[in-house]
Amino acid sequence: MSYPFEPYKIKVLESIKTLDKTGRIKALREADFNLFKIPSEKVTIDFLTDSGTSALSQEQWSQIMLGDESYASAKSWERFEASVKSFTGKKEVIPVHQGRAAEKIIAEALFQKGDAAFSNGFFDTTRANFEHRGVVCIDAPSEKSLDILKPKLFKGDIDIKKLRQLISHHKENAKMVLMTLTNNTGGGQPASFKNVEFASKLAKKANLKFIIDACRIAENAYFIWLNEQKRKGDIGNVIRNLFSLSDVAFMSTKKDGLANSGGFMVTNDRSLAAKLRELTVLYEGYVTYGGMTGRDMETIAQGLKEVVSPVYLQHRINQVSYLHNELAKLGIPLIHPSGGHAVYIDAGKLFSHVLKDNFPGQALVAALYQEGGIRSVEIGSLMYGKTSKTEFLGGLKHRQETTPRPELVRLAIPRRTYTQSHLDYVVEVFKKILRNKKQYKGFKIIWQPSTLRHFTCKLKPL
Ligand code: F0G
Repeated sequence: MSYPFEPYKIKVLESIKTLDKTGRIKALREADFNLFKIPSEKVTIDFLTDSGTSALSQEQWSQIMLGDESYASAKSWERFEASVKSFTGKKEVIPVHQGRAAEKIIAEALFQKGDAAFSNGFFDTTRANFEHRGVVCIDAPSEKSLDILKPKLFKGDIDIKKLRQLISHHKENAKMVLMTLTNNTGGGQPASFKNVEFASKLAKKANLKFIIDACRIAENAYFIWLNEQKRKGDIGNVIRNLFSLSDVAFMSTKKDGLANSGGFMVTNDRSLAAKLRELTVLYEGYVTYGGMTGRDMETIAQGLKEVVSPVYLQHRINQVSYLHNELAKLGIPLIHPSGGHAVYIDAGKLFSHVLKDNFPGQALVAALYQEGGIRSVEIGSLMYGKTSKTEFLGGLKHRQETTPRPELVRLAIPRRTYTQSHLDYVVEVFKKILRNKKQYKGFKIIWQPSTLRHFTCKLKPL
């Protein structure tokens, strides 16, 4: 066995329909080569995201039948609140319909225009919500994460030296340190307990709020338990110890909540909780459902109990590293080591024949769909770059792409959904692509909106 077998058996089936290559090429064209627009029934393996795409357990399905849909103070809320308290160790629980709602509410409750915030890596919606509030967001990822191909433990750490400098440089307006666990934009890499603890101490000393984005905190805690605490103690305790370092934390339960929706904010600060509740009523719904149905709250209450299981987490992390290792064996350049929820490919290196301006990541995303019906997501110039104003160079109209980061493609693996043979199929598709990779050309954008262009833009192959 190359990794522990799936610790579950299949009880309910969702058939996978497969299109032939001609059908896939047609689907790509009809979607303007934007994979977000491909109907999911035309996708064979869906690695677009691990968010809200997990399979529910039989216990979660049975809890759904107990969903209490009363508007206020429902039984499902009581079960949800108790489960979140036991998962986080925090006293005040405020529900929201998904992670970004918590980001918006926390930003409004705690920060003002001109405040500065520092992080190991803000996720794009977190950054967008804080920036919308006028907060200046600065990433300070650890130096070891900058060499993406070199395997190092805990590449999700924040750079402590840089954090110190940032705090002293922004004395007037520094307000917050935020740790994203695991660091999604930095390759799903975990941060060490020592690092999170140190960052929280620095924040406390400077009187800054210390916030945890806990979307994938169970996966992060597994890496701590395995590599830092040498399998001693209980993973649930590692999670609670992490939460205990924060003034306020939020979680999209679409990830490590093992649920299809939902989220929450937690704190021990009663006056902050009151403020968060006020805004929750305004934006999300009453404070005992926050935009979720009773059924949603039941699946999350149960999911938070299941996610701390070492058997589940061992399989989960090893499933990701299995795909990672098989692709590495083929010589595919990857962010090393493998992270918690996804494999990240350096498409800029793999498709070095495609110019940065022509989106090598998107060329790989399209190739994976064309050859195998695999849906993935580009995290590079298409997602983060912007087309600058038209410039005149030597009298010629020249549209320049700003390309701030590596050209990555993320294969995010939904939890408890795919088996080893699905992963082996993905590896076979990569082999096919490698046989003649120069045939896959880049793209030009023919239409784009003013923000978050990757979701809706239209592309044309070169
Ligand atoms: N923080 C992190 C680290 C995330 O990965 C996400 C979502 C959010 C916050 C926002 O949560 O979607 O419930 O509003 N990540 C998804 C992804 C979309 O595909 O990585 P949300």
